[in-house]
Amino acid sequence: MKLFTRSDIDQMDKIYRLNLINSVTGYKSANLLGTKSTTNQLNIAVFSSITHLGSNPPLVGFVLRPTTVPRDTYKNIKETGIFTVNHIHDSIIEDAHHTSAKYPTEISEFDQTELEPEFKGDFDAPYVKNARISLGCKFQNEYEIKENDTLLIVSEIVEIHIHDEALEDDGWVRLDKAKTVAINGLDGYALPNLLERFSYARPKK
Ligand SMILES: Cc1cc2nc3c(=O)[nH]c(=O)nc-3n(C[C@H](O)[C@H](O)[C@H](O)COP(=O)(O)O)c2cc1C
Repeated sequence: MKLFTRSDIDQMDKIYRLNLINSVTGYKSANLLGTKSTTNQLNIAVFSSITHLGSNPPLVGFVLRPTTVPRDTYKNIKETGIFTVNHIHDSIIEDAHHTSAKYPTEISEFDQTELEPEFKGDFDAPYVKNARISLGCKFQNEYEIKENDTLLIVSEIVEIHIHDEALEDDGWVRLDKAKTVAINGLDGYALPNLLERFSYARPKK
């Protein structure tokens, strides 16, 4: 067993620390965030920090890296108040990962990959065409995480699109049927296998 102390972590090579700390907390969700600017520029970017915050009201959060460099997703969300969250599935991982490349604002990652935008109903932010699970979200609030100058973005889910075969009768979403992947660290993509689903846990008598 290897032990890393806090002082070991502080003295690590930057890339080694980045890899270690990004993977050591476990698998993360793999999503593409779709946004549109007020000048109709479409943007798509991979985010691994989207997480459930509560179901009533239905809230999600994600962590935004420091805004010391241009962040198009954030800029567009602040301009329009809305964005989409699209699960990454097994057959789009390479393009999904490529959306993290630093393209200038005027270049849409949709044009640099095979990913295609799709507008659904009157929701005015781009979904990823053929995504099997997608959410339409509305910005609610942002909280500064002072320790590392990041932001926690809190948003409300206003619509959900799910392929029929991934939705069970009781509302549970079978992520394995949608072939939704998980992110290992910053550059690894895994396809999890469902092992079991349990009933509500109660204390033993
Ligand atoms: C696997 C992976 C996960 C990422 N997760 C996040 C994240 O949770 N928050 C974030 O701010 N950036 C994250 N990024 C970085 C963004 O994808 C990257 O900064 C991208 O260029 C942002 O695009 P934008 O400027 O068009 O918004 C991640 C990158 C990768 C490769």
